[in-house]
Amino acid sequence: MSKTCVFVSAAANIALVKYWGKKPGYGNQPATGSLSVGLEDLRTQTTLAVGEGDSDLIEFDASAATRQRLTSYFDQVRQEFDSSQRFVLKTENNFPTGTGLASSASGFAALALAVNELLELHLSDSELSRLAMRGSGSAARSVFGGFVEVIANEDAYARLVMPAEYWPLSIIVAITDESPKATGSTEAMLRTASTSPYYQSWLDTHGDDMQAARDALLDRDFEKLAEVAEASCLKMHASVMTSQPSIMYWQPATVEIMQCVRFIRQRGIACFFTIDAGSQVKIICEPDHLETVSATVGALAGVQRLIKTEVGGTPIIS
Ligand code: PMV
Repeated sequence: MSKTCVFVSAAANIALVKYWGKKPGYGNQPATGSLSVGLEDLRTQTTLAVGEGDSDLIEFDASAATRQRLTSYFDQVRQEFDSSQRFVLKTENNFPTGTGLASSASGFAALALAVNELLELHLSDSELSRLAMRGSGSAARSVFGGFVEVIANEDAYARLVMPAEYWPLSIIVAITDESPKATGSTEAMLRTASTSPYYQSWLDTHGDDMQAARDALLDRDFEKLAEVAEASCLKMHASVMTSQPSIMYWQPATVEIMQCVRFIRQRGIACFFTIDAGSQVKIICEPDHLETVSATVGALAGVQRLIKTEVGGTPIIS
């Protein structure tokens, strides 16, 4: 090994067409594809170094569950690449963790990229995306920046659809609640798949949403993208809410923001919302409308603060 330590900065991403559900019997592979945008300024900074002794060192403030998840990830890496290497990991996020802002996406993408670099694996882009996916489904997309899709075939992987420059869009993250979510996405997906009466329709209509979103992206058709992205988000959340026992990620402020976004869109402001497994709302808008949308949404009582960013998120490795 020529390097003993690597540094990676990887960005979070948000899905415009969501994935929700695992492919039964295929570990962490998704039941559906997805299409996302990278968030340039929401980043995980990871330092990975070679370790000694017989255990990995996780040198940041992490819960017991996170430590267990990371150790099991390293075990998978060692098994897959026939290595006995132990690791020393330090990582930090410049945005709230575990609140539905895709910290697992940027975190596991950074980790996969760092492992590839440190162990000199020379993985291809698709192999890298699969390595990230072992940690978190959405992490496969954060291996790239820009507009990225997951192909959920026999051996799911992510690929770049268009670079960020293809369609410069602004993104506002409206934070409504910074406390960690009560139900993690993996547990919520399994519950949705086994109990929600709407899960099968979610799966059945997903392919059409992917096609509509791809077409909208290739045509840079904002209205069409807005329509399919909001529909995909609402279908996902409808399935989650109707699982037993029900899971409700939204807060009153989440609904307030959704209504506000629709209200201003009807008045000619090009913007739409999407929400992951949490109560925060991400608003995508044309850059010319960034200030109007920020001022309007930022004035709502339930909005604690806004993070403004743009499509981007290409990882940085050194
Ligand atoms: O990356 P995971 O496995 O924690 O799942 C994330 C799921 C959503 O963020 C809700 C949707 C998506 O496609 O990112």
